[in-house]
Amino acid sequence: MEGATLTWYQWYSRIHLYSTWKDMTSAMLNRFGHVDLENLDGLLAKMKQGASIVSSYQEEFEKLANRVEGLPVHALMRNFMQGLRDEIDQEVLMFRPSTLQEAMDLARISAEEIRNRHEKGLYFNCDEKFAPEHKYTQMQIFILDDDDQTKILIHPVFMLIGFIILGGEAIISYKGLPWSKKVKKLIHLILHAIALIFGIVGIYAAFKNHNESGIANLYSLHSWMGIGIISLYGIQWIYGFVVFFYPGGSPAIRTESVPWHVLFGLLVFMLAVGNSALGFLEKLTFLENSGISKFGTEAFLVNFNAIVTILFGVFVVLSVIFQARVEDDFSYSSI
Ligand code: HEM
Ligand code: HEM
Repeated sequence: MEGATLTWYQWYSRIHLYSTWKDMTSAMLNRFGHVDLENLDGLLAKMKQGASIVSSYQEEFEKLANRVEGLPVHALMRNFMQGLRDEIDQEVLMFRPSTLQEAMDLARISAEEIRNRHEKGLYFNCDEKFAPEHKYTQMQIFILDDDDQTKILIHPVFMLIGFIILGGEAIISYKGLPWSKKVKKLIHLILHAIALIFGIVGIYAAFKNHNESGIANLYSLHSWMGIGIISLYGIQWIYGFVVFFYPGGSPAIRTESVPWHVLFGLLVFMLAVGNSALGFLEKLTFLENSGISKFGTEAFLVNFNAIVTILFGVFVVLSVIFQARVEDDFSYSSI
């Protein structure tokens, strides 16, 4: 210490003989901080990396964060990541850091990686040289690679459209549509086939995303159930096709098979609904670990999606369990 700080320190220790370290730093901040302490949280939240390099931004962030008291670590981590430049923030998010230190280390590594790519004139996702007329020539599954946000979204969107919406509609269509059994069978079969294709692409996207980000595969209950469900769905489809459509089993085999087909079909569909709820839960846990608020709008949105999925599933199952009520001309009554 020197100059004004030294004089202040000597004066402070004379009148506060048994002061704690915490009291002393707080008094020092009041004397030399020049910043309204109430406002520090807000300043931290607004801090931006801008044009500076990650380590300078980190240094400034740490200086300010040192003076903020009582802010939980996940909020500090969120502030730090939100202040990073977008391209770095997205890289860091992909690795789902669980501590602030991890997020800081990842930010430095990502910035380095991005700089290397720029220096080599490479595209972000495709390892090809930059040119104004550039087109992606690598084989890519349409939007699977477009940007990180889309990449993360493909899996849940494809699984929900496939196994839940199309699979559910295929089941409902048996009772819901007014056409002949032959037409309904065809619609049922085709919708389930499209659902299966969506499911395969959705799971492929999840594996691809994991492999590219260096995340392990098949470590969760959700993923194990997922593999089971897609296998059962495939078996159910092939069995249904062979017995009810082409070449078609004998009438006795068909009659025997119907209740099993319905039971097994419902079981696979309900497992898919349950597994989607697990997927939402897992996704939300990752998001919360990377800093989103437990009661924030994003958390609400994810939980709300899960509830809608479950409600839809319940109605599909009810449509199978109950016979459609047939009204005749004479039983009409105004409600
Ligand atoms: C029936 C529908 C679903 C099936 C069959 C399914 C299947 C799978 C499979 C097999 C994996 C493992 C990928 C790997 O290990 O590389 C996976 C991962 C994942 N899924 Fe799903 N999924 C479904 C729906 C959803 C939904 C609706 C979400 C909601 C966000 C979701 C979120 C995730 C997440 C976050 C991962 C990565 C973490 C992990 O491997 O557990 N899934 N899914
Ligand atoms: C994974 C795919 C499939 C699932 C999950 C599934 C599920 C179901 C369910 C839940 C029902 C009961 C509908 C109701 O009673 O309201 C049903 C009926 C039926 N399914 Fe499938 N199905 C699948 C594939 C197929 C295929 C490929 C065929 C081949 C044509 C087929 C033929 C039938 C027939 C003929 C019925 C009517 C049974 C009856 O007479 O009540 N299904 N299916």
